[in-house]
Amino acid sequence: MRLKHIKNADEIILLSPYLISNPTDYKGKWNTLFNNNNPIEIEIGTGKGKFIISKAINNPNINYIGIEKYSTPLVGATKKLESIKIDNLKLICFDAFNINDVFDKEISKIYLNFSDPWPKKRHAKRRLTSPSFLNKYDLLFKNDKIIELKTDNKDLFEYSCVTFEEYGYNITKIDTSYLDEYTTEYEDKFISNGVNINFVHVEKK
Ligand SMILES: C[S@@+](CC[C@H](N)C(=O)[O-])C[C@H]1O[C@@H](n2cnc3c(N)ncnc32)[C@H](O)[C@@H]1O
Repeated sequence: MRLKHIKNADEIILLSPYLISNPTDYKGKWNTLFNNNNPIEIEIGTGKGKFIISKAINNPNINYIGIEKYSTPLVGATKKLESIKIDNLKLICFDAFNINDVFDKEISKIYLNFSDPWPKKRHAKRRLTSPSFLNKYDLLFKNDKIIELKTDNKDLFEYSCVTFEEYGYNITKIDTSYLDEYTTEYEDKFISNGVNINFVHVEKK
């Protein structure tokens, strides 16, 4: 499901009031941008934003930030938001590899939805559930560390469950035919093709 590159995507997303173009300026103080102390939940690899937008609309007492590496998918998210006015959602175009430059001890939950599986062993470090990413995430959380992962990819699922446990997380919910109230664009495609969705919720003190 490769997205066609949009030539002026960088400029288009900048026009959206939801896009925060200087995310590193808010490190440790995202609550000042939201103007409240509500919990902040982030989705890494937010794509066209369906999941995070419906989460934000339906949960006004939680703040959401969608993080996406590329501007092209974010054009889809900013378009969806054109006629919507919500205060509890922000989007950033940023590579999660440098996520510690953006957040510090202020996140309540991380969502990883249909993350790229990086099947080759030599690319394992790029998986968003690799030990090096889990190490980065440790510094983001305010209190308990909570991560939820959904994927169609069995290998990524097994790898992630093992890595979470090795890294001190407890698996508190696991489901290999998961049906979520909040779906993503990829999830909708998989469901319509009869593909099972794997889900895991993990926590660490
Ligand atoms: C397979 S798509 C899934 C998109 C969306 N979550 C969904 O389920 O419809 C994975 C997305 O993660 C983004 N992504 C991959 N690595 C990333 C990173 N290091 N930082 C931020 N986004 C990343 C990709 O650009 C892509 O849009």
